[in-house]
Amino acid sequence: MTETVRKLIEKLARTHSLTEEEYAALIDGRDDEAAALLAQYAVAAREPYYGKKVFARGLIEISNICKNNCFYCGIRRGNKNVERYRLEPEVIAACADEGYALGFRTIVLQGGEDAFYTDEVLGGIVRDIKAAHPDVAVTLSMGERSFESYKALKEAGADRYLLRHETADPVHYARLHPSELSLDTRMRCLRDLKALGYQVGIGCMVGSPFQTTAHLAKDLKFTEDFQPEMCGIGPFIPHHDTPFKYEPAGTLKLTLYLLSVIRLIVPDVLLPATTALGTIHPLGREMGMKAGANVIMPNLSPLAVRKQYMLYDNKICTGDESAQCRACLDNRMAAIGYEVVVDRGDAARAAR
Ligand code: 5AD
Ligand code: FES
Repeated sequence: MTETVRKLIEKLARTHSLTEEEYAALIDGRDDEAAALLAQYAVAAREPYYGKKVFARGLIEISNICKNNCFYCGIRRGNKNVERYRLEPEVIAACADEGYALGFRTIVLQGGEDAFYTDEVLGGIVRDIKAAHPDVAVTLSMGERSFESYKALKEAGADRYLLRHETADPVHYARLHPSELSLDTRMRCLRDLKALGYQVGIGCMVGSPFQTTAHLAKDLKFTEDFQPEMCGIGPFIPHHDTPFKYEPAGTLKLTLYLLSVIRLIVPDVLLPATTALGTIHPLGREMGMKAGANVIMPNLSPLAVRKQYMLYDNKICTGDESAQCRACLDNRMAAIGYEVVVDRGDAARAAR
C-alpha cells in the first residue's frame, strides 16, 4: 500500500468524504493491504450502530414480467427464453405469512416493471401485509414509477424503497440501458422517494460492462451526496440470454473493497451482502460482512418460480425452501461470529 492510499483511507475514515479524484485514486491504488485496512476501519465504523448484528430481509420475487430491456438483466423484455410468471396477491400474502413465522420483520417485494401491479393492486398487497403483521417493515423494489404512485404506495404503508441508480454517469447509463431509459428519470425517482419520506436504497453493479474507475468514483460521490439509508452493490454476472453474455463478471475483491468504502462514507447505512456476491464465491456473503456489510436478503419466493427469476447465471438458493435459507444463513453468520436478528432494523439515521 502506498503512503497516498493510506492517507486517503485515514481521511475517509475520519471525514466520511473524499473528492471524486481521491475516490478514483483509492480504487486504482488498491492492494490486499489497503483492502485489509479499509475493512478494519469499516468494521469499526459499523460497530457503534450495529455491532455484529445482521439484519435479515425476506425477499419475495413477485413477478418476472418486465417492460424494460436493460442489457444486463436476464428477465429483460427481449429474452424470449424466460417462462414468465406473476404471483397473485393471495400467494404473496401467504409468502409474507411464512416469512413472518420464520422470524423476518422486513419483507421485500421485488419484481420487474409489470403493469399488473397498479397502485391499487400493489397498494392492496402492502395494506394486507401491514394489517396482518403491523410490526413488519415493507420494502418495495418495483422500479420506476410516478411521484403519485410512490405517494399512494407510501400511504398504503410501504416503508422503504430499493431502486439502484445502476451508474451515476449518464453516458455509462446509456450503454447499459436502451434509449427509453435515462439517468435523469432514475434520479427523479430517487428524489421523489426521498421527498416522500421513504427510507431509500440506491446501488450499482461492480464490474458492469464499460465501467471505469471514474464511473465508480462518481457512484461513490453520489452515495456521499445522496446519503441513502440502504445501498445494494454486487458484482455484475453475465446472463447467457442477454447482449452482455460474453462480458466478464465483476470481481470479488473489488466488490469487498467498495463495500468497505461505502460503510465509511455512510457509517450507519444498511448494506447487504448480496446474493450476487454469494454467487461469485461460496463464502462471498461471509466475506461481505467482514468487509462492513450488515444485511442479508434470503429468498422467500415460492420454490416453483425461483428458477424463473434469474437476473444472472448460476444464482444461488433457487432450489432451497425458505426455511432452509433462513437456517443456512443463521449457521453461516454464526460460524463467523455474527448474529442474525429478527427486528425491523431501521437505518440508525431513520430512527434518530
Ligand atoms: N448481474 C448482477 N446484478 C444484476 N442485476 C440485474 N442484472 C444483473 C446481473 N446480470 C441487479 C441490478 C438490479 C438488481 C435488481 O439486480 O443492479 O437493480
Ligand atoms: Fe439460501 Fe443458504 S441462503 S440456501
